[in-house]
Amino acid sequence: MMKTLLYNIGIFTVLTIFLACTGNSNNNPGFEYMPDMYRSPSIGAQSDHNIETYNSKPVVGTVARGKLSTFNYSSSNEDYLRAGLESTYPNYFLKSEKTLDQGESLYGMMCSHCHGINGDGKGSVDHPVYSAIPSYSDSIQIRRTGGNMRDLKEGHLFHSITYGLNAMGPHSYLLSEQERWKIVYYIQEKLQKNK
Ligand code: HEC
Repeated sequence: MMKTLLYNIGIFTVLTIFLACTGNSNNNPGFEYMPDMYRSPSIGAQSDHNIETYNSKPVVGTVARGKLSTFNYSSSNEDYLRAGLESTYPNYFLKSEKTLDQGESLYGMMCSHCHGINGDGKGSVDHPVYSAIPSYSDSIQIRRTGGNMRDLKEGHLFHSITYGLNAMGPHSYLLSEQERWKIVYYIQEKLQKNK
């Protein structure tokens, strides 16, 4: 009696395991209440899409890549030089004390740790990779323009912030266009001395 019972339990267990492992149950999700919640249409970060009602506008407070309205130069050296000759502050830009203050605090947050609070190139970052940080008031003629730091025009400065140069990385994803102009203004007014 006991033997038969154990025998039956054994068969039942084996059959249950066998049945649970067979069939196509893995590929069959069963009833899905809201399929598009499980299988949402995904959009690659940089790819085009044709999903209706999705307007692709960047989220408020984020900085769109590329597409600047007041500065359209590529990262090339040629465009750097051209920007220096042609590019200047946008029409809406107000050269006021307030803008200067804002430029100063942005500079303090984004540049001073390398370039120094006074723009002398002696910030707190002392890693050898950043050993050649120039002073904004330098008169040494070694810049890409063939001139020196204190003669860099606003287009040069904006270009450098946007695309970086060698060890200095691009800051385009950290600062909006307007913020970059404010920093440029602050550098020109306060840090490029002896002009
Ligand atoms: C991580 C350190 C670092 C930070 C942060 C940094 N820089 Fe630089 N910057 C450098 C270095 C290093 C160079 C020299 C690059 C070279 O000459 O190869 C440089 C060069 C420059 C130049 C000269 C470019 C030229 O045309 O010759 C300008 C202008 C400049 N930086 C502006 C800024 C501004 C404005 C900010 C803040 C938005 C900033 N940098 C943030 C490290 C930094």
